[in-house]
Amino acid sequence: MNSFSLFKIIEPDLKTLDLNLKNMVEAKHPILYAAAEHLFNAGGKRLRPAIILLVAKATSNAILDSHKRLAEITEIIHTASLVHDDVLDDCSTRRGMRTVHNIFSNKIAVLAGDFLFAQSSWYLANLENLTVVKTISKVIIDFAEGEVKQGSLHFDVNISLKDYIEKSFYKTASLIAASCKSASILSACSNDVANSAYNYGKYIGLAFQIIDDILDIVGSPQVLGKPTGLDLKNGNLTAPVLFALAEEPLLITIISREFCNLGDFETSIHLIRRSSGIQQAKDLAIENIQAALNCLVIFPNSGALFCLQTITNYILQRVN
Ligand code: IPE
Ligand code: IPE
Ligand code: MG
Ligand code: MG
Repeated sequence: MNSFSLFKIIEPDLKTLDLNLKNMVEAKHPILYAAAEHLFNAGGKRLRPAIILLVAKATSNAILDSHKRLAEITEIIHTASLVHDDVLDDCSTRRGMRTVHNIFSNKIAVLAGDFLFAQSSWYLANLENLTVVKTISKVIIDFAEGEVKQGSLHFDVNISLKDYIEKSFYKTASLIAASCKSASILSACSNDVANSAYNYGKYIGLAFQIIDDILDIVGSPQVLGKPTGLDLKNGNLTAPVLFALAEEPLLITIISREFCNLGDFETSIHLIRRSSGIQQAKDLAIENIQAALNCLVIFPNSGALFCLQTITNYILQRVN
């Protein structure tokens, strides 16, 4: 996505971000360094930094050094959360490469994730903006809340859509919301603009997670750089599954017995695909995308605003 011509206005900043990320992660121990560096070399879509830089540009005349640092911090936090998430989800590949716990061990992956969180805290403190420090550090608490909540609901067919949205907020939307708000705080915006930026990030984050959850069922591992079907295998019941459960009683039986019979998993994928679950999940993502776009009306018209609107719509195109 970085090369997509509409994002030309932040392309040089995204290139610098890639270089800085590798330099920022300094570790004396070679294993820790290798584990941390591994994921930055693998790339990733850099969606969060792109959004932050665009919010920065939409709310201030220039992208400040503090905005650039915030984008880097956010990508480090995101990467740390993926290192831990891959241990919890038993995920073997990420960004087209073997995951840290797969190459090294679970112990090293937990330490590497902690190490990245700690590095991000250090750079965050050095921004010397207490409101931003408070806003972003809350996100790391939210990750743990989200992951633990998700783990406690595995294979629970009674999970409500509200539980799912709440868990998705903690796991994914909180980081994007907090970093969009922080970008506008660094631009010295009013509280109204900062709150709109927060809500924009929240809604785009929720839509992004819903689409990621649809891709886990309909996507290709080659394109995604990570395995598909893992959510369901692990009993993580996401939006398309929740909607399908209401239409397919057999799905309830199969999931409740945790796929213990031969062919159960394949049958469940078939049942989900033939139901309207995927379409209903897309509709839910569309609602959140629309809510995100509505939050942007407070920003003045600019090229950056146009790019933000485009990036917001791009989230949906991932499943088209
Ligand atoms: C994956 O995020 C985790 C979710 C919140 C769904 P991305 O899809 O943005 O991962 P990268 O950074 O591009 O690898
Ligand atoms: C998002 O959830 C993980 C975090 C934000 C930590 P997923 O578990 O769906 O992310 P992927 O699919 O592994 O990238
Ligand atoms: Mg995962
Ligand atoms: Mg996923």
